[in-house]
Amino acid sequence: MSIPRRLSDAAGMFAPLIGAGPGLGTLVAEVALRPVEDSDLDALFEQMRDPESVWMAAFTVEDPDDRTAFDVHMAKVRTSPEVTTRAVTADGRLVGSVASFVIEGNTEVTYWIDRSFWGQGFAGRALALLLESVPVRPLFARVASDNVRSLKVLQKAGFAITGTEISFANGRNMEIEETILRLDEPAKTAPSDVSSRERRTY
Ligand SMILES: CC(C)(COP(=O)(O)OP(=O)(O)OC[C@H]1O[C@@H](n2cnc3c(N)ncnc32)[C@H](O)[C@@H]1OP(=O)(O)O)[C@@H](O)C(=O)NCCC(=O)NCCS
Repeated sequence: MSIPRRLSDAAGMFAPLIGAGPGLGTLVAEVALRPVEDSDLDALFEQMRDPESVWMAAFTVEDPDDRTAFDVHMAKVRTSPEVTTRAVTADGRLVGSVASFVIEGNTEVTYWIDRSFWGQGFAGRALALLLESVPVRPLFARVASDNVRSLKVLQKAGFAITGTEISFANGRNMEIEETILRLDEPAKTAPSDVSSRERRTY
């Protein structure tokens, strides 16, 4: 799946978002979801063409530098009834995106966090929030088998591995193994640092 600006350019201006990692109990940024706004698009575009991120995600658009194609794609996913696309914010600052979309009759999830914000639990909390707002089950996800971070995020949310496939990955210009995961359970309770205020934001 795929959707999101070079937050990293702006990130240098940002104060630290957290003082301790997720689960450590203090100073955890408030993660929320909201509809994508026009003013998010520059940042989401830059974020989604970051080479390291593209390599990790692997199953990306053909040309992550094609702004016209990005704008066409975003206009489509922001209006399609089969797609739920949300901006991910941490303490009100845009840090990424998360989405569900229908492909070949199955609903899949995907997410993308700006590289400058990795490792702070934002993907995990964003996915938990999305799973509360998208009641469809089963839900599916497809991940490059070496994308360990993403596999952890999905498995922590309750997704189980159902198989693997070899597919062509635009982000690496080669065939690689992808892992297919499935979620049958209702949403788990959102992590304790996700407040009820946040859950009302989308
Ligand atoms: C994958 C991605 C969304 C993860 O975002 P994130 O906000 O850093 O994820 P989280 O912090 O919520 O969780 C990452 C998990 O990976 C673990 N992790 C962090 N660094 C790691 C590393 N180098 N190797 C293995 N695991 C690592 C973290 O400990 C965490 O697991 P835990 O919750 O059990 O502690 C982010 O790296 C990204 O956007 N990548 C590019 C796009 C992409 O790959 N999207 C997914 C397509 S399927």
